Amino acid sequence: MRRPLVAANWKMHGRLAMMDEYVGGLGDGGAGVELVLCPPAPYLFGMATAIEGLKDVSLGAQDCSTENDDGAYTGEVSANMLADVGCRWVIVGHSERRRRCGESDALVAGKFAAAQAAGLAPILCVGETAEERRAGRAQATVLAQVEAVMEQVGADGFSCALIAYEPVWAIGSGESATPEVAQEMHGFLRETISRSDARVGEAVRILYGGSVNAGNAGALFAQSDIDGALVGGASLDPKNLLAIAAAVAVRMN
Ligand code: PGA
Repeated sequence: MRRPLVAANWKMHGRLAMMDEYVGGLGDGGAGVELVLCPPAPYLFGMATAIEGLKDVSLGAQDCSTENDDGAYTGEVSANMLADVGCRWVIVGHSERRRRCGESDALVAGKFAAAQAAGLAPILCVGETAEERRAGRAQATVLAQVEAVMEQVGADGFSCALIAYEPVWAIGSGESATPEVAQEMHGFLRETISRSDARVGEAVRILYGGSVNAGNAGALFAQSDIDGALVGGASLDPKNLLAIAAAVAVRMN
């Protein structure tokens, strides 16, 4: 069975002062659902301390460098450093970075490999734009994003990674993909990995992201290949994060 997981992507939100209150709001955590908190880089260390001792809550970063060795890379943060301050996870290839920072599929694959080399589990974001979907290229886009990673680390690279399917048109729009549209892509992703390695394909957890909230989470998680969520806006309030986790917890029964 794939254990459900909900990751909170704070994006560029948050302050030091909010850390303890947020973590206090999580109470005993997500009722058996794994929770991953991904605050901005300056807050990672503080968050690592704030969640100490909390069961099933762990720390993730929002990005990492392709470089793992220390060196002259101004502004970069290596996966080794993230591991050093207590991260277990790191998001790579979020569409906001692919778009705003011009991150290519190959560069994202390099980040994925660097994360794994540092002992972190990557959360690989994939997803098509509205234009690509209209042009009938949704699956081709997502396939290229996954294949770029498989070229570098093989299907086995997904044995300790997560995939987050985040259609670009659904992120921050208030309109999530329908459960059927999401399931179709999740099934396609699982099949793609399974063709190379059936065991890894069956085991890999595939999260949905894009305007997930307490209201739509239940219908999304009722789909067989949706194993959790990567949540942006709604994750800034711990109450919402817990409500989303409760919606996915039913998968465990
Ligand atoms: P959203 O963001 O939940 O605010 O749509 C999701 C994401 O970009 O990870």
